[in-house]
Amino acid sequence: MTPIIASGKQFSRDEIQHHVNSLGRWFHNIDLCGVQTAPDHFLGDFPASKWKRFEHAIPQDLRGKAVLDIGCNGGFYSLEMKHRGASRVLGIDCDEDYLAQARFAAQVCGADIEFRRMSVYDIANIEERFDLVLFLGVLYHLRHPLLALDLIHEHVAGDTLIFQSMIRGADKVARVALDYPFDETGIFTLGGMPRMQFVEHGFAGDPTNWWIPNRACVEAMLRSSGFAIVGRPEDEVYVCRRLSEENKAVQS
Ligand SMILES: C[S@@+](CC[C@H](N)C(=O)[O-])C[C@H]1O[C@@H](n2cnc3c(N)ncnc32)[C@H](O)[C@@H]1O
Repeated sequence: MTPIIASGKQFSRDEIQHHVNSLGRWFHNIDLCGVQTAPDHFLGDFPASKWKRFEHAIPQDLRGKAVLDIGCNGGFYSLEMKHRGASRVLGIDCDEDYLAQARFAAQVCGADIEFRRMSVYDIANIEERFDLVLFLGVLYHLRHPLLALDLIHEHVAGDTLIFQSMIRGADKVARVALDYPFDETGIFTLGGMPRMQFVEHGFAGDPTNWWIPNRACVEAMLRSSGFAIVGRPEDEVYVCRRLSEENKAVQS
């Protein structure tokens, strides 16, 4: 992996450290001219350690491509996409504090990235399709996850969706029939059926974790929203192609 090169011309190291500290608690650890933005992350060097495991699934050369990073957080993935030459990168997030971090990181790196405060539920307002859409680590933070996938398909996905979710429960994926009789009961306890657990109170100390799907559920939701799964470069990461409405209807 090529590291993000922060030019930092306009800032001294001390100034970068000062800004990083003033921008609150970072979730993304980004190396800004030797300043780590989240050196004590509970997942280690995150998300670099995750990215290393699936970066090969995204073209090295993104020149001429438009990328949308939904739930961009501190901008780690947006910066990586720009670093690969994407002509346009738009990062959206509903949290202004994270967006301020992302804007600062992009400024230090001299990266021309647009960051906009926007919820995934409002993406119809973007009125643009993107060659590549990143939807990483957001699904389970939503109260209406399937709606979000439907909106991504309908309004912004042009070709490729890179999707990631926390996944828990059975890893096995059972074959699901096209229909079941009303008196069927066995499938509701069978391992490998699509299931998503609702989190009423909290999970991992994060009150914004609402739904935790199993693998079968993630795959079924992607298909149901009109995405064909073409790869799984990392345990939780899927590469998907957007299907047209006609092809979406015939996908099972
Ligand atoms: C776990 S972080 C994932 C960040 C990044 N995509 C990654 O994979 O490292 C979830 C992000 O989604 C954002 N988010 C949560 N709900 C959202 C919504 N409705 N619309 C847009 N972003 C949202 C949060 O603010 C947060 O930055």
